[in-house]
Amino acid sequence: MSTARPLLYVSRLLPDPVMSLIHERFRLVQEPTETSPTPSSLRDGLSCAEAAICTLTETVDDDLLSSASQLKVLANYAVGYNNIDLNAARRHHIVVTNTPDVLTDATADLTWTLLLATARRVVEGDAVVRSKRWTGWTPTQLLGREVSGKTLGIIGMGRIGQAVAQRAEGFRMSIRYHSHQSSPTLPGAWKFCPLDTLLQESDFVTLHVPLNSKTRHLIGARELSLMRPTAILINTSRGPVVDEAALAQALQGGRIAGAGLDVYEEEPTVHPQLSSLTQVVLLPHLGSATMQTRVRMGLICLENIEAVLEGRPAPNRVT
Ligand code: DGY
Repeated sequence: MSTARPLLYVSRLLPDPVMSLIHERFRLVQEPTETSPTPSSLRDGLSCAEAAICTLTETVDDDLLSSASQLKVLANYAVGYNNIDLNAARRHHIVVTNTPDVLTDATADLTWTLLLATARRVVEGDAVVRSKRWTGWTPTQLLGREVSGKTLGIIGMGRIGQAVAQRAEGFRMSIRYHSHQSSPTLPGAWKFCPLDTLLQESDFVTLHVPLNSKTRHLIGARELSLMRPTAILINTSRGPVVDEAALAQALQGGRIAGAGLDVYEEEPTVHPQLSSLTQVVLLPHLGSATMQTRVRMGLICLENIEAVLEGRPAPNRVT
């Protein structure tokens, strides 16, 4: 890098330790805030920066990238990068990077948080205690579903899917997975199967695929109809992987027993029927939301940006 600090655009306020490093090493086009940038401030920011950090809530399309004439590198503060038009980035010679690995554990932990919370009716239980309606222990109150020893179906067996499976072993679960191919390096006890078989045989189905044209609405009315009426669906991947209207209908009609969701088709909007169902646990896209992980994600963004600006290969290039 030259001695002048490079001009960086950051779309959202990042955790303090990351912002401190940014202030030390870069000049900021504008100070980021907690809220999403307006379309015009996103455009202005990208148009004059040499490097940028964007988050999954900013859609960075061809039009925006065309106006980013100085931009050499766009570090996406997420492992998923469906918000960026990669073909356009390639055409404009802009390196795009993501933040793999560092959020695997946090996201797998949150998947389990949702799975257990949904199966054991944690949110309903909390509400009963807080409302002062609780009259004491009874043999029949808030009976949930057993987790240990059941069958877990994992759709998408990348880093996060595997981390979820490892945790499931502690619960003595049988593991079925569906991925674009079976992997000979995975434990033999994890059984690869076609999607329909996985849906039919699992007590819990959890989604860990990236969002792309093949996975949009991967789980729709047909797939939900194959699941067991006692089954629970967990989604910590991307909202549009599930057809939310079909899911709401399946839950309402008792086609499946419950759902634990961290992501939605039109964030921050949630299908109104889903919010009204007690068998659904809803979180506000918290998969990677631990301080340690969010700081590491920021550090990875900076490592990638500095590599590109210094003419080295970006360690986490996705274009
Ligand atoms: C990701 O990295 O893709 C997550 O959804 C961000 O929390």
